[in-house]
Amino acid sequence: MSRFPMPALTRRAFVASAAAGAASAMLPLLRQPGANAAAMREVRLRAAPGRTQLAPEPFGETSAWCYNGTVPGPEIRVRQGERLRVAVENGLAEETTVHWHGVRVPNAMDGVPHLTQAPIAVGERFVYEFDAVDAGTFWYHPHQRGFEQVGRGLYGPLIIEEPEPIRVDRDVTWVLGDWRLMKSGEISDDFGNRHDIHHNGRVGNTVTINGRVPDSFAVRKGERIRLRLINTANARIFSLDFAGHEPIVIALDGQPVSPHAPDGGQVVLGPAMRADLIVDMTGEPGSRASIVDRFYQGLEYRLVDLAYADAPLRERAPDWPMELPANPLPEPDLNTASRNEVVLTGGMMGEMVAQDMGESVGPGAPGGMMGDMKPGGMMGDMNSMMGGMMRMMNSGAAWFINGVAADEGSHVMKPMLTLARDKSHVIAMTNATAWHHPMHLHGHSFRVISRNGQPTRRREWQDTVLVSPREKVEIAFVADNPGDWMFHCHVLEHQAGGMMGVIRVA
Ligand code: C2O
Ligand code: CU
Repeated sequence: MSRFPMPALTRRAFVASAAAGAASAMLPLLRQPGANAAAMREVRLRAAPGRTQLAPEPFGETSAWCYNGTVPGPEIRVRQGERLRVAVENGLAEETTVHWHGVRVPNAMDGVPHLTQAPIAVGERFVYEFDAVDAGTFWYHPHQRGFEQVGRGLYGPLIIEEPEPIRVDRDVTWVLGDWRLMKSGEISDDFGNRHDIHHNGRVGNTVTINGRVPDSFAVRKGERIRLRLINTANARIFSLDFAGHEPIVIALDGQPVSPHAPDGGQVVLGPAMRADLIVDMTGEPGSRASIVDRFYQGLEYRLVDLAYADAPLRERAPDWPMELPANPLPEPDLNTASRNEVVLTGGMMGEMVAQDMGESVGPGAPGGMMGDMKPGGMMGDMNSMMGGMMRMMNSGAAWFINGVAADEGSHVMKPMLTLARDKSHVIAMTNATAWHHPMHLHGHSFRVISRNGQPTRRREWQDTVLVSPREKVEIAFVADNPGDWMFHCHVLEHQAGGMMGVIRVA
């Protein structure tokens, strides 16, 4: 039997939940009769415009696009081995789909318009159904004009729990969002502009945790937290410094990794990437410690403070085991693996690159709230001197994979690679550009086996690998999930600018 059974009835009638909202989105556990007796979870997601309080007072609410009226959308939480059925209703004024990022779903459930399904028309509905094969931290988002639909707030966490989760005091999800807000507090509507596409994408000016500019996060001395970080930003890369705390990485992109302190002490997350951390709260009662994002040099800002309660929970950190049980991933055989070269090219080159932070909202940036290290992850005006120049440059494809810039709009994406099913494959990616690219493969997780010719220490499983400028990264996996799968950069403006392709498993 395939590990990826097709849903019996993908469009079967579905019991609508009377009320919307995060809590009511989860219907009670149901049993599905028949061969597949796995517990079934039914969820309703409605994508529609809404308003949400992103920035703190005195800002008012911001118009956004929401699932079930909230940003992020409701946290969908199921147990490994359960089956999930999600009825998605399109209340937007344009077509949409939902992609289950990192989840190894059957191809028809992957949510890629014109490749795995017809887009969900305005006012229409599509029912996704798949098994939760891997435990871990995943997320969902549209795959239709993602640079705008995700950028306006359409995303949410999907947590698949281990049958026996490791022991912690609290299991916490932080959905990291990045917004380009104007002075009015509304979202700048310059989506997909040429400058963003040709540079490092739509990096915003306001970072949120779970849809809010945070001030502090209450903790207690001695507390152990499993922190699930999800980078849902269009383009922002995070490098989080935990202020003297020593987070231990236990999973990357949902997949367990041998527990370790992050290289360089900071947790680096490109767009779409996730990390599960164990954070022991080692600060003193009544103290505060600032988590700082240090990725962009000179643009460090305080993300949030850990605020310690006056009473400790316990005097020292617990010594509970941290190792997560492995997921049922097939092990690639490097001796028999096919070898495939992939070269990434395009984008603007030159010495401005490292500091250039993309199109600025200029004088429209939120007034008094802005400035380095101001509370809540709101940062300074990142004006780009190159902006004006770039706007004048010709349009056309910006990014290429093996010389080809895919055009999503044309709906013809011939496979760039065809991989033999159930066989092992290595893809060697060379980043011949001056920019970072978080490269994502659908339908599979892969081992990252080398960087610049050096074997990686942990051969981590990922579904999105951050490839640095000029870096060469090798990944390996068994192509056990048949179908046509997207392979693209998750800087959504790079994807829109051509940095995508289709890998066929047949
Ligand atoms: Cu998270 Cu192709 O997407
Ligand atoms: Cu990219």
